[in-house]
Amino acid sequence: MNAVTKAPGKLKFLLDNEIVEIGFPNPAGLKPTTTVLNYLRMQPTHKGVKEGCAEGDCGACTVVVAELDERGGLTYKSINSCLVFLPMIHGKQLITIENLAVKHGNGILLHPVQQAMVEANGSQCGYCTPGMVMSMFALYKNIPNPTRNEVEDALSGNLCRCTGYQPIVQAALKACKDGGADHFSAIKESVIEKLEEIGREQSTLEIFTPGQKYLKPFTIPEALRLRKQYPDALLVNGSTDTALLQTKKRILLDEIIDLSGVDELKLIVEDHSRIVIGAGISIEEILKYTEVRLPVLADILKVFGSQQIRNLATLGGNVGSASPIGDTLPVLLALGASVRLLGDGRQREMLLKDFIVDYRKTDIKNDEIIAVLIIPKPKKGEIIRSYKVSKRKDLDISTVSACFKLKLDEQNQVSAIHIIYGGMAKTVQRASAIENALIGKKWDRKTIENAMGMLHDAYVPISDARAEASSRIIMARNLLLKFWHESTSER
Ligand SMILES: Cc1cc2nc3c(=O)[nH]c(=O)nc-3n(C[C@H](O)[C@H](O)[C@H](O)COP(=O)(O)OP(=O)(O)OC[C@H]3O[C@@H](n4cnc5c(N)ncnc54)[C@H](O)[C@@H]3O)c2cc1C
Ligand code: FES
Ligand code: FES
Repeated sequence: MNAVTKAPGKLKFLLDNEIVEIGFPNPAGLKPTTTVLNYLRMQPTHKGVKEGCAEGDCGACTVVVAELDERGGLTYKSINSCLVFLPMIHGKQLITIENLAVKHGNGILLHPVQQAMVEANGSQCGYCTPGMVMSMFALYKNIPNPTRNEVEDALSGNLCRCTGYQPIVQAALKACKDGGADHFSAIKESVIEKLEEIGREQSTLEIFTPGQKYLKPFTIPEALRLRKQYPDALLVNGSTDTALLQTKKRILLDEIIDLSGVDELKLIVEDHSRIVIGAGISIEEILKYTEVRLPVLADILKVFGSQQIRNLATLGGNVGSASPIGDTLPVLLALGASVRLLGDGRQREMLLKDFIVDYRKTDIKNDEIIAVLIIPKPKKGEIIRSYKVSKRKDLDISTVSACFKLKLDEQNQVSAIHIIYGGMAKTVQRASAIENALIGKKWDRKTIENAMGMLHDAYVPISDARAEASSRIIMARNLLLKFWHESTSER
């Protein structure tokens, strides 16, 4: 294990092109779990950022962070500042709406995305506008000449209750045509230098305040040292689940180990038979990687939260939450994924189906972290599909989700099948009895209708605000029928 490196609890990031240092205990009353949104709202010159929902659902709080990438350049990401604790932006550049326009003679020169919003009448009451513009700005930096789909995807995490989306989409299309270059491009090298300067001093942040400990390691050995020393600390990575404990349930998170700075958890590698995905890599990165290589996972990630959420959320967090509606879980279970756990001086691997033991409960030990997910690739001849039913397509969690994997023999009979549903029980669950009944049966409409009839006995879903139990059964039946239709047209 590495020598213990201990920094005073001081975090650093770039704002307005200056390195900001925040120490704890903090005279201004900042806590380590103060969100970036609340920090900005306390600054006299950064009140453009707005709070709508404080739970990642409206996008009014959208800001952009620029961070060093592995090629030595900068990557720009839109994030929901209401979900991000201050230490999570350590070593990054924080860009807010106030940074977009620049002084020009006696006036100001709007950023191209702002100018396009003005020209397209993209704002009425203006409450959503700073967040909307920041999402557009991230798009401007990342995708020159985006398609309408790409624009809609970039803006899917931003709600507007008055303007209507057409002028906003038009503004984005116009602004981002041949976009990319702006005054941020001109200062890119000096930003990189400053971020590298912060990075060079990087050693584990240990922030202690009366009532709170916030620990941010940058290496796996340090993460494991802290995990052993603070076995009751809450692990966080993207904090898109955990921040809500504070913002909605008003719980003071007293001990946190923040894994978001551990780059070793952000790998993706593959060989001929499997893809290994680090627990700390963002859902957005996984989406990009799997679009061609593992479409069944990418299909579900395309409708996972919004871009702001996907830039923060991780696979480790989705698996660690063990939610019955965790969107990656049906696919991972259908593919027979395993989880690799690292603990104090040891590691172990287990099938994901055994790792998730109950409603939001896993088999993780209190000295362990999830390091990677090991995902077998679909084999030749296997037909596999994932589905999500939610009240709206974007930025909504699943009511019912499913993944089906099928192998047929030459007589069109089922030789192997996986039927896995989310939202139908207290955990994401396999319908083993139906699978067994299908083996050896002809893959025709009569067989699938029989299987649909068995779903009633296989699951006892709950009724909640999203759907009645009886509607969930209907959705599950229809997904199975949809899969049958798609699988027959594929052959
Ligand atoms: C607005 C909004 C929309 C959302 N939409 C979706 C959606 O469409 N589909 C969906 O499935 N989810 C959705 N979520 C839920 C959430 O984004 C996901 O569950 C996400 O994958 C969590 O990842 P995270 O890194 O943010 O987890 P965190 O909040 O950091 O952690 C979640 C849990 O995992 C544990 N954990 C995290 N990393 C590790 C690790 N390396 N080792 C061990 N334990 C770990 C934590 O202790 C915690 O219990 C949404 C959330 C919000 C706020
Ligand atoms: S305030 Fe609504 S997403 Fe952050
Ligand atoms: S302009 Fe009013 S909410 Fe969008």
